[in-house]
Amino acid sequence: MATQYKKVAVAGAVGNLGPTVVRELVAAGFDVTILSRSGNTLPNTKSATVDYSSKESLVAALRGQDAFVSNIPNHIDQPALIDAAIEAGVKHFIPSEFGSNVTGNSKVAALPVFAGKLATEEYLKQQSKISWTVIVNGLFFDWGLSMGILANLSGGTTKVYGDPDVKHSLTLLSDVAKAVVGVLQHPEETRNRTVYIQSTALSQNQILDVVRKHKAGGDVERVDTKELLQEGYSLLKKGGADIGTAMFNFILVSVLDKEYGNNWSEKNENALLGIRELTTDEIEKQIVSVM
Ligand SMILES: NC(=O)c1ccc[n+]([C@@H]2O[C@H](COP(=O)([O-])OP(=O)(O)OC[C@H]3O[C@@H](n4cnc5c(N)ncnc54)[C@H](OP(=O)(O)O)[C@@H]3O)[C@@H](O)[C@H]2O)c1
Repeated sequence: MATQYKKVAVAGAVGNLGPTVVRELVAAGFDVTILSRSGNTLPNTKSATVDYSSKESLVAALRGQDAFVSNIPNHIDQPALIDAAIEAGVKHFIPSEFGSNVTGNSKVAALPVFAGKLATEEYLKQQSKISWTVIVNGLFFDWGLSMGILANLSGGTTKVYGDPDVKHSLTLLSDVAKAVVGVLQHPEETRNRTVYIQSTALSQNQILDVVRKHKAGGDVERVDTKELLQEGYSLLKKGGADIGTAMFNFILVSVLDKEYGNNWSEKNENALLGIRELTTDEIEKQIVSVM
């Protein structure tokens, strides 16, 4: 008989991605408990306040849960979550990944910003006590637009990274959340592997074409991704307040440089996980909605 999960715990539930994941899980009928450090709550969920440095605290919060979804930003701390989930008898773990193709591309794996995600995936692969699934979705489409990464939506100059005609997989937060639900509804098919999803794949020039239709301007400044990478390593060496910029440089390269393999239009699990690609009209509406 197919495995059926009912109870799902979500860590890091109130950030950029978490609330959408929780909303989709609740809508799909899962019994959701959110874990937080300060007693945060979300509608239609139970909540547990946890001390992430205490295994006891984590095990107590996770006991009785079928699955555990992590959205925490400090990826390096996830092996402790995995140990606690195993001790609590949780059956399936979805780590806080939701971005670049970390173990599917050696150039991505080598970027310092992904050390924690890489270590988490290696930790998961080395054990057999809990099932796991990694979700890889590229840049969040709506978030990437609202952050001005994909285009300058006010018509000002856009930085284009590498070849502006190369397409990149992009995924709406709501589709990432659908993938989480899809994985937990299809644990056998998604067990112990990476699943790739996308709402669409677009080049920066395609996005800029839409921007130019609605706003005057739309000039571009070409950014050499090799220089961006070099700058990242120099800033990392300097340390201090520059580390954040360095990490952001690495993320930009991983999601927007062709060599980092971030287009899985030909190889994705949209159909299994219930994700439908956006139409041209929907893409335009999405871009206009954040202008
Ligand atoms: N593909 C993309 O474009 C993209 C963009 C952004 C993020 N991501 C990925 O998506 C995942 C979720 O990121 P996010 O931006 O949603 O995270 P976030 O907003 O930075 O944090 C999520 C939540 O985690 C908890 N948290 C924060 N710091 C913590 C710490 N030190 N220890 C434990 N919990 C902590 C907080 O909840 P409480 O206060 O309730 O504990 C916070 O609201 C990450 O893996 C990230 O790399 C991908």
